[in-house]
Amino acid sequence: MPYPEIRPRRLRRTAAVRRLVAETRVDPAELVVPMFVKEGLTEPRAIVSMPGVLQHSRDSLRKAAAEAVQAGVGGIMLFGVPESRDERGSGGIDPGGILNVAIRDVVAEVGNDTVVMSDLCLDEFTSHGHCGLLTPDGSVDNDATLAAYAEMAVAQADAGVAMVGPSGMMDGQVGAVRRALDAAGHTDVAVLAYAVKYASAFFGPFRDAVESALEGDRRTYQQDPANLRESLREVELDVAEGADLVMVKPALPYLDVVSAVRAAVDVPVAAYQVSGEYAMVEAAAANGWIDRERVMLETLTSIRRAGAQIILTYWAVEAAQLLRQRY
Ligand code: PBG
Repeated sequence: MPYPEIRPRRLRRTAAVRRLVAETRVDPAELVVPMFVKEGLTEPRAIVSMPGVLQHSRDSLRKAAAEAVQAGVGGIMLFGVPESRDERGSGGIDPGGILNVAIRDVVAEVGNDTVVMSDLCLDEFTSHGHCGLLTPDGSVDNDATLAAYAEMAVAQADAGVAMVGPSGMMDGQVGAVRRALDAAGHTDVAVLAYAVKYASAFFGPFRDAVESALEGDRRTYQQDPANLRESLREVELDVAEGADLVMVKPALPYLDVVSAVRAAVDVPVAAYQVSGEYAMVEAAAANGWIDRERVMLETLTSIRRAGAQIILTYWAVEAAQLLRQRY
């Protein structure tokens, strides 16, 4: 070795040194936990393909939300599973629909102790399972869907949500939602745009979680996994339309996209570690093939390192508890 000897291992020698020089930390405040609530349930129900994640009853959701606040998570993203669905997804707009009712419940429980957010999309509420309204020939009608999203946004804001998350990948959805919120006097409600969302097979277990009726796929509105530059266009449009935060989804298979988006915009960037990412790790861990906790924290650290400031993850509560013990 030439002199002076440069030995990077000096900075890896003890846990204390490693902690001192760590470039990336995951803070519970940056984690958001997605939660599912199903209409009509009296007891929570397990989701087979997402071990440890529940379809909540209204009661169990309130308790889980309080627990999440205790753990110090930064936010809760709510998804509703209705008892019945129709062509137009009217259960998403109805103030008495399960998601809007659950927003009221959770806001009553936690107030502003964490950020209450809601998925703004029709797929959980439509009988055909698409994220938008269909034309008579069965294709997804972009502009008719925008009008439905606008109504849904106002219904969610009326229910007290702090942030709405339009996730349907319709062109112009952020602008339509922002205009509707402003016109209804909800200028304080923020828009967390699912700006970059790929037509991903990693959403598989989520479809069980919300009992999606979808047949076919979403490739005419969600993005092609082959494309990166297209994501920068999507993000640019969403910021121009008024997105307060932008999100990339899924996370781990798209870390290059997270990193490019981080470099391109100044608004906070979130990444969604989706159901399939979670299920893969849980399944391997259940077989004893990987160390569950270490892999969990490694994935979260990697997503942070790539440039996501906020992470939506089904492990949020558990990870927050683990991280608190650690630091
Ligand atoms: C749309 C929505 C989906 C997810 C979050 N919001 C499903 C989809 O677009 O197909 C997937 C989340 C996950 O897989 O964890 N409402």
